[in-house]
Amino acid sequence: MNTPIHQQWSSRLAFILAAMGSAIGLGNIWKFPYITGDNGGGAFVLVYLICIFLIGFPIMVAEILIGRRTRKSPVGAMESLAQESNQSKHWKILGWMGIFAGFIILSYYSVIAGWTLSYIFRALGGVFTNLYQLFGQDTAQYTDAIVKVETSFLGNAEALLAWHTIFMVMTMVVVARGVKSGLETAVTTLMPLLFILMLFMLVYAFNSPGWEKGFHFMFNFRFEDLTWKSILAAMGQAFFTLSLGMGAIMVYGSYLPNKVSIINASFIVAFMDTLIAILAGLVIFPLVFTFGLETNSGPGLVFETLPTAFGQMQMGVLIGGIFFILLLFAAWTSAISLIEPAIAWLVENKGMSRVKASVLSGTITWFVGIATVLSFNLWGHIKYQNQNILDWLGFLTDKVMLPLGGLLIAIFVGWLVSTKITREELGFKDNHLIYILWLLSVRFIAPIAVLIIFIFGILSTFNLIG
Ligand code: PHE
Repeated sequence: MNTPIHQQWSSRLAFILAAMGSAIGLGNIWKFPYITGDNGGGAFVLVYLICIFLIGFPIMVAEILIGRRTRKSPVGAMESLAQESNQSKHWKILGWMGIFAGFIILSYYSVIAGWTLSYIFRALGGVFTNLYQLFGQDTAQYTDAIVKVETSFLGNAEALLAWHTIFMVMTMVVVARGVKSGLETAVTTLMPLLFILMLFMLVYAFNSPGWEKGFHFMFNFRFEDLTWKSILAAMGQAFFTLSLGMGAIMVYGSYLPNKVSIINASFIVAFMDTLIAILAGLVIFPLVFTFGLETNSGPGLVFETLPTAFGQMQMGVLIGGIFFILLLFAAWTSAISLIEPAIAWLVENKGMSRVKASVLSGTITWFVGIATVLSFNLWGHIKYQNQNILDWLGFLTDKVMLPLGGLLIAIFVGWLVSTKITREELGFKDNHLIYILWLLSVRFIAPIAVLIIFIFGILSTFNLIG
């Protein structure tokens, strides 16, 4: 075995927190609740849970396995494992696709995270509470005033760009410091804080009058709400939320010490990620119902509907501030994993220092992010099929690139890598039932399900089927 170029996590816990940090992000707290709201609640949640455990979890195991077996960046990892398995070295293209997807996702992710950052100051500065004091007697006027805060922020390209820049710098600073003093320190500090803040929000929501309604909204199945489009959204969300299909989890796996069980660790990560998404729904919807607001305001659910609630609640300044800080921490620990595949590749192949690699990749991402910044204002009129640039970037990554990456990873690990290698890496001496179930999933269930959902989902997105 050649000596690894990269550092390793110092413990199993460090890896689990890092992988959770990657998984738990804007996807859980900003996106999951609003797609659930847009897709009618309960039925969507059920399909999402099935996607996580039947498709996502087995693919997560596969990705970590590839990383740890080779201890290389996703490009190098795919190439080495393909060679070890006598397969074409072109499989490394999958690693390239991942790095590319990482740049695109982080480019818009950072803009949304910057938006979050600015809302921490708005909430703590009492902006929403003040508006309620001014216009509270007239609900329509008050709601308008909150929406105006949002639209005037989004309409201001310089402001958006400035916050996007700050967030990108925050991300670069962490990755530049390396696996141990950068990533590991960040996740071991931020993740416990995130859990505490989440718990605090949950207690608040539980004691609010809208709790019961919010709870039913999340868990009452209304199958008439399910379409192929919403099933595709559930699958896309499953990949996105577990950080799958683009090498982030693979690269984290490549820093994983040998003795740690991949299956156990993945299970904990997938479980916690799901838990936090569900809890985010259980925090947000009760507040939405308490103040008689709408569940289907899309991306505005967190930046429009919630501030409307924060403005009128007792201790709204504190609760609102905490909520946006929570969202920022979640975004920050995900952003570092989106850029890590590129950093690992640059360090490995170009002999760059981590600092240089971070500056280079961060600058590229920052630059690409300008498209998202402008899609809210100057380029807002550029639309195709009624979707703007940001919508299309999201579609391309969550609904196309990540499922495609996941599909290819499942096929590669399930069919082309020998069972001797996979069994060994997963720590099974014989054909244990769990191993067989996992193999069944990466060989058949995951690829077939992804393919079907993918095809029907795309067809219905372009209105080719109902
Ligand atoms: N999982 C993150 C979230 O839910 C986003 C992400 C996607 C991170 C892909 C890394 C890779 O917000």
